[in-house]
This record gives sequence, structure tokens and C-alpha cells, in this order.
Amino acid sequence: MNHPWQAPAEASGLYWLLVALVVGGLLSFTLWTLYGRLRPGRLTTVGYHALGVLVLVLALFTLALYVIPATQAEKIPPTERAWDWKPGETLKDPSGAALEGEPYRGYLVYLANGCTYCHTLYLRPQDIQTGWGEGARPEEVSQMGDYVNYPFTMLGTQRDGPDLTVIGRKIPNMNYHVEHLVNPRKFKIHSIMPTYRYLSEKDLLDLAAFLVSLGNEPQKLRMGQLVPPPPTTEDPRIAQGRGLYNSLSCVACHTLDGASSTGSTWKGLYGRTMEIVLPDGTMQSITADDAYLRESMVDPSAKVVSGFSNVMPNIRQLAGRDVTEEEIQALIAFIKSLSQPR
Ligand code: HEC
Ligand code: HEC
Repeated sequence: MNHPWQAPAEASGLYWLLVALVVGGLLSFTLWTLYGRLRPGRLTTVGYHALGVLVLVLALFTLALYVIPATQAEKIPPTERAWDWKPGETLKDPSGAALEGEPYRGYLVYLANGCTYCHTLYLRPQDIQTGWGEGARPEEVSQMGDYVNYPFTMLGTQRDGPDLTVIGRKIPNMNYHVEHLVNPRKFKIHSIMPTYRYLSEKDLLDLAAFLVSLGNEPQKLRMGQLVPPPPTTEDPRIAQGRGLYNSLSCVACHTLDGASSTGSTWKGLYGRTMEIVLPDGTMQSITADDAYLRESMVDPSAKVVSGFSNVMPNIRQLAGRDVTEEEIQALIAFIKSLSQPR
């Protein structure tokens, strides 16, 4: 496969030859018109011919460097993950909440509200190491085919917030996105992202649907296949816990793969010995067991894990309703399943 050049050093010799010819040509033409034999009567017909040649050369270069590549770009096939929603198409929240939004409209809302001033939709290879493209895989580095179905692209240049190329896979939860847009400080206390609570409910839902579709394969989202059905041998309680992890927004602060985030990772959490801080400031060493996990959800500030800030809302606040004991147990079962040797 042909990768685009990532650094000048990778460009071919022919490219540099062309650059040298153009730069050299322009320079000698300038010097010739300024100091050459024609200097006393610069506005001769020869001068005009030379100017004509220059215009022609520039026109040819525009053709070779911009027009021809643009026609070729039209032939680039979409990638699997290309974003291709049509006006009017709706997306059901893959996390199971009964929300629905129109990704195409959301894309227009994204444009109109200047999200692109702080967020890019362009993943560079180095972003995977530096963390700008958190959750992205090396094969997801942006390529031209990713943009085929965008009527206009919003790559962005400034990154005051994270790159959003794969945000929909990282957080496939419309509910979370709506709440984050309304109040970013609810999840990240130091967030500088402005609030978008002035948007209408429809705008918020559509925007959330657009975000959820980023980094996913639209064909699958349309068929409701994004969240893979749990394997039939799995304990249904673990499956329920996984569903709650997404729908109650735990996914926003806790990872499952060992990566750090606002909260600790759940990989290997159960049974781990950890340092916690009590409200009066004393430190204690405890083992993460059922009782501790339960308390951490119901009353997160009772014992705060050392090294983390006390920002976790309790599970009732996160759900926006009463949470049953059965749901808490399902979450515990899910966390346990992430610590068992496989
Ligand atoms: C002034 C800059 C700024 C603007 C404008 C902005 N954001 Fe953000 N955004 C941030 C920052 C900083 C973060 C990281 C902190 C956070 O998660 O709140 C962020 C995070 C996010 C996240 C990731 C949330 C998460 O939990 O990982 C999403 C999604 C997002 N923004 C969407 C949007 C959308 C949609 C818009 C336009 C309606 C927008 N942002 C406008 C700065 C901005
Ligand atoms: C706004 C970010 C945020 C959200 C959302 C969040 N948590 Fe947390 N969570 C934290 C932080 C930070 C800690 C570590 C500090 C502490 O102990 O309070 C933590 C700690 C925990 C702990 C203690 C054990 C540990 O170190 O991980 C459990 C259990 C837990 N969270 C469960 C949940 C569950 C279940 C949800 C979803 C219903 C959830 N969290 C949602 C931020 C969050």
C-alpha cells in the first residue's frame, strides 16, 4: 500500500528535482529582469513574452500539483470506517439508552459551533504514542479514504481538546456526550471546554449521534451491531455489568485495558492492595473486595484512592435515578471478571 509521505526526507528525488527547477527558474528570471541586458528598456516585447511564459509555467504547476491530484482524490475509495450518514438518517444510542439522533445534522451543528477550533478529526502516527489519539489503534491513523463521505472536512489545526477521530468507539454513549456537552466540568473538573447548554435538545442529540459514529463503522452502527452481543457462555450478570459500565458513564473515567484516566483502570482491580485516603486525611492500606467496591460506588468520597482526586459522583448521580442492589452487584461481577486469569 502506498502511504503518503510523512516527512520531507521520504519524498522522492523527482520531487526535489522539480522543486529545485521551479525555485531556480523563478530566481534567475527575477535576476534577469532586474539586472539583465534588458534593464534599460524593461518593457520590451521580450519582457512581455517572458512574463507570459512565467504565467504559463505557474498555470502548469497549479494543474500538476492541485487540479490533477484533486481529480484523482475523487477516485479514492472510502475506508471501512468512513463516516457516511445521509440527511434524515438516524442513529440509536448503542449503549442501549432510548436516545436517537441524526448524525448528519450533528455534523452541521459541530461545524456551526466551532468545535473544530479546539478539536481535530485527524489522527497522526505520533498521536498514538503521545496520547492525543487515546484509544486509537495504529491502523487507524487517518488516511484519505476516511474523509470520502464528508461533504467538507473539518480536520482542525489547534488541539486544546483531544482528537475526536475515534471518540465514538471510546465512548459509545449518547447520554454521556449530551451531559458532557451541557457541563464538561461534571466529568473533568478542570476542563476548559465551554458549555453547550444553549443548544436545543435536538441539536444536542444530533451532535451526540455524530460523536458516537466517529471511529466506528457506520454500516455496523446502522444495523445496531456496534456493541457485540455477549458470548452465550458468559454469566448474564457480567454482561449486565458491562452494559451498565457504558450506560452509566463509568467508561468516561475508568478504562478496562490498564490505561490510566481520570479514575483508576479496572483491569486487575479486584483483589488489588491499594493505598486509600480517609476523609480525615489518614492513609490506609486496603484490599479491593466486594464491600469496598460497593462503597466506592455508593459513597465515593468515603475512601479516595491515593493519587486520584475525589471527583467521582456517586452512582445515583451518574444514573440520574435510583440504582438497584442488583445493578451494583452486576457491576462488581463485571469488575471481578476483569481480574481473573484468562
Ligand atoms: C475551548 C476549546 C473547546 C471547544 C470549543 C470544544 N471543546 Fe471539547 N474538549 C475541550 C477540552 C479541553 C477537552 C478535554 C476535557 C474534557 O473532557 O472536558 C474536551 C473534550 C471533549 C470530548 C471528550 C470527552 C471525554 O470524556 O473524553 C468531546 C466528545 C468533546 N470535547 C466534544 C466537543 C464538541 C462536540 C464541541 C463543540 C460543540 C467541543 N468539544 C468544543 C475543549 C474544547
Ligand atoms: C468523573 C469521573 C468518574 C466517573 C464518571 C466514575 N468514576 Fe469511579 N472513580 C473516579 C476516580 C477519580 C476514582 C478514584 C478516587 C476515588 O476513590 O474516589 C474512582 C474510583 C472508583 C472505584 C474505587 C476503586 C478504584 O480505584 O477504581 C470504583 C469501584 C469506581 N470508581 C466505580 C465506578 C463506577 C461503577 C462508575 C459508573 C457508575 C464510576 N466509577 C464512574 C472517577 C470516576
